[in-house]
Amino acid sequence: MREEIYLGLMSGTSMDGIDAALARFPETGAELIATHSHPWPDDLRRQLKDLTRPGENEIDRLGRLDALAGETFAAAALELLAKAGVAPSAVTAIGSHGQTIRHRPDGETPFTLQIGDPNRIAERTGITTVADFRRRDMAAGGEGAPLAPAFHAHIFRNENEARCVLNIGGIANLTLLPANREAPATGFDTGPGNCLLDAWSRRHLNRPFDRDGAWATTGKVSPSLLEAMLADAYFRRPPPKSTGVEYFSPDWLDRRLGSDKGLGEADIQATLTALTAESIARGIKGSMPGCRRILVCGGGVHNNSLMRQLRDRLDQHEVESTAAHGMDPDWIEAVAFAWLARQTLWGKPGNLPSVTGANHSVVLGGVYL
Ligand SMILES: Nc1ncnc2c1ncn2[C@@H]1O[C@H](COP(=O)(O)OP(=O)(O)O)[C@@H](O)[C@H]1O
Ligand SMILES: [Mg+2]
Repeated sequence: MREEIYLGLMSGTSMDGIDAALARFPETGAELIATHSHPWPDDLRRQLKDLTRPGENEIDRLGRLDALAGETFAAAALELLAKAGVAPSAVTAIGSHGQTIRHRPDGETPFTLQIGDPNRIAERTGITTVADFRRRDMAAGGEGAPLAPAFHAHIFRNENEARCVLNIGGIANLTLLPANREAPATGFDTGPGNCLLDAWSRRHLNRPFDRDGAWATTGKVSPSLLEAMLADAYFRRPPPKSTGVEYFSPDWLDRRLGSDKGLGEADIQATLTALTAESIARGIKGSMPGCRRILVCGGGVHNNSLMRQLRDRLDQHEVESTAAHGMDPDWIEAVAFAWLARQTLWGKPGNLPSVTGANHSVVLGGVYL
């Protein structure tokens, strides 16, 4: 039997664009068939970004942006299919992550909110759409995040060695895969990935990110600022834990910059790069001391300055791109949501309670036929 085709739609906290991927899932692993990067229209991106911060008139803005984002996700799916020459009828389902506008796993009433109306995606494409993956995990007592680790375990677990998968998106998350299949995979968000780097670059270079980390290499790391940032309680909290860009925000950074008036802008960029590298390295050393191979995916893998700082801190480890293991690092998250849609339709769980802290494993998401 020819394997079914699934379509994954992902836009992470970086809001750098929608990743759309077509994939098949043979017995083991995943086969990427086609990809498409779909930009957010500038105006829509700005409005979505604004909605990630508390503000005025949120219900009307939410309703409108949910609809508009849904239309944009649908357009991304249709363009991918046209590019790939695949008919919508050949696709079993779309898995749409949506755009996170709040993630508050702590507090008295934890909640998480992803928007991009799946009714519209199903209506425009004619393809069954699975969406709203995170809230069922939260209902079961979990953090609702990270969700990609189940997929990382599916494709990268190896019986001969323990491995870590490190995804550096806006937030960075780790999946720890013990060699022993009886041992559960674990994982957590280590803290900021690219989000503070992007924010600082946007503010001072007027560019969405520090390409290849070139700007950061012109600055010097400030040990005192690095220490002040690493003093944040999040870094000391034991897993399971997850966080978002509304926590590691430009305001978070401004509150820590106060005392270091003498630093240059490039020094701060270098220090933020060190913060991402150091918090990841601590996460790896603290939670999986036996692991020697780190497979890196997400946009941060292209930041040479960050990768260098990471390798310096993990000199006992092999730090390599997932490309070395047959998976393009830019498409893993989108393929993960295609796979999660398949899990849902097959009635299989998509969360790992050992990662999210849920009471049990659950079938995730809502299905829009
Ligand atoms: N060539 C590059 N140099 C430096 N950073 C890059 C490069 N390419 C991508 N990035 C970073 O990766 C981010 C996007 O990563 P991505 O994995 O899509 O994150 P998210 O899941 O949050 O959308 C960009 O915002 C940018 O910070
Ligand atoms: Mg992205």
